[in-house]
Amino acid sequence: TRAGLIALGAAVLSSCGQGQFIFLGDQAASYNREIWNLSLWAIGLSIIIFVGVSGMLFYTVQKFREDRNTAAPQQFHGNNKLEAWLIGIPIILVLGLSVLSVRSLARLNPVSQETLGIEALGAQFWWNFSYPASTVQGGSVVTNGNEMVMPAGQKVAITTTSRDVIHGFWAPNLGGQRASIPTVKKVWELDTQRPGVYQGNCSQLCGASHANMRFKVIALPPERFAAYNEAARAYVAPTPAPGSAEERGYNLFMQGKADTGAVACASCHRVQGTPAGGVSGPDLSFFGTRRTLGAGMWEAMTPRHWEETEVAQSAKTEKQYSPAQALHEWIKNSPRVKPGSIMPSYDGSTYFVDGKPIKGGLLTDDEIDDVAAYLRSLRLPEEADYWRGIP
Ligand code: CUA
Repeated sequence: TRAGLIALGAAVLSSCGQGQFIFLGDQAASYNREIWNLSLWAIGLSIIIFVGVSGMLFYTVQKFREDRNTAAPQQFHGNNKLEAWLIGIPIILVLGLSVLSVRSLARLNPVSQETLGIEALGAQFWWNFSYPASTVQGGSVVTNGNEMVMPAGQKVAITTTSRDVIHGFWAPNLGGQRASIPTVKKVWELDTQRPGVYQGNCSQLCGASHANMRFKVIALPPERFAAYNEAARAYVAPTPAPGSAEERGYNLFMQGKADTGAVACASCHRVQGTPAGGVSGPDLSFFGTRRTLGAGMWEAMTPRHWEETEVAQSAKTEKQYSPAQALHEWIKNSPRVKPGSIMPSYDGSTYFVDGKPIKGGLLTDDEIDDVAAYLRSLRLPEEADYWRGIP
């Protein structure tokens, strides 16, 4: 046991040394620091109680051992003073812990007017992160799908909600899970001192692709965030050059293709600064700047990575795709790649969700590549590319 204790102590110390609390995530997030301090009180009191109770037990066992006592110990019934202590001490301890817990809650939950507000909308099976105009200076609502960009070293007020079933917003290294409930808007604070990329997952079992409902929290140094914020607010999707693949893709994206029944992407997806304003799918405004596809099913999807990365792996099918193939397969038949996806397929097939047929019509492989080319052109300007320099 001594070796075990030493190993445990070493694990605690080494994990603290790397900026991580044992079990409790990143020390840079004030949520984790608060919970850690609270845990220390609870653990400390537990140790005192354990030592006290064990000590008394040991003392009693030793003192009244049969071989040391020829006579039976004094017999008595009832001891009001002792009972008052036995009831009083636990009450004081529980009250003390309650006060500490309430204090922690009060510290974690105040949301001030100046705090940057971000709305996290969960849906089967993706996220939209919106920056409402009312809480940030300047301009229109900016929305990013599946990637939440925030400043480091500053409190952010997250409003969680859902457009269908209950989801859970959970970035384990930044704090506890928060429910995303339809028609309910819950506000709470989140922050981190350390710029970096934090993995997020949906934490409520919500359907076939619950495990594929991931997101990233990207905490940027304040000046980088300011550049992103400014450019994102001013962003107007680039107009494709006449005759280019992007332009053909743009037309398919906006209008679909009537003669084959191909549904316009724009009827479900929004692209800032274009007529596309659909809200039943994730926002695609900065698709070309984003790193992942399919709410985190594929990593490394930025155009830069399209050139650098040979292979991106499909988490679900374990088929090896290049990023370009991945996007092609995704547009062609998203439900085949991601179970439960309600995006129409464009290979002419019909599938059923809750007994209702979903049919996306038909696009040729070349047309799908044109749509992909248009999507890849939806990029923030270089200075606002929030992934720049992040491996
Ligand atoms: Cu959404 Cu699990």
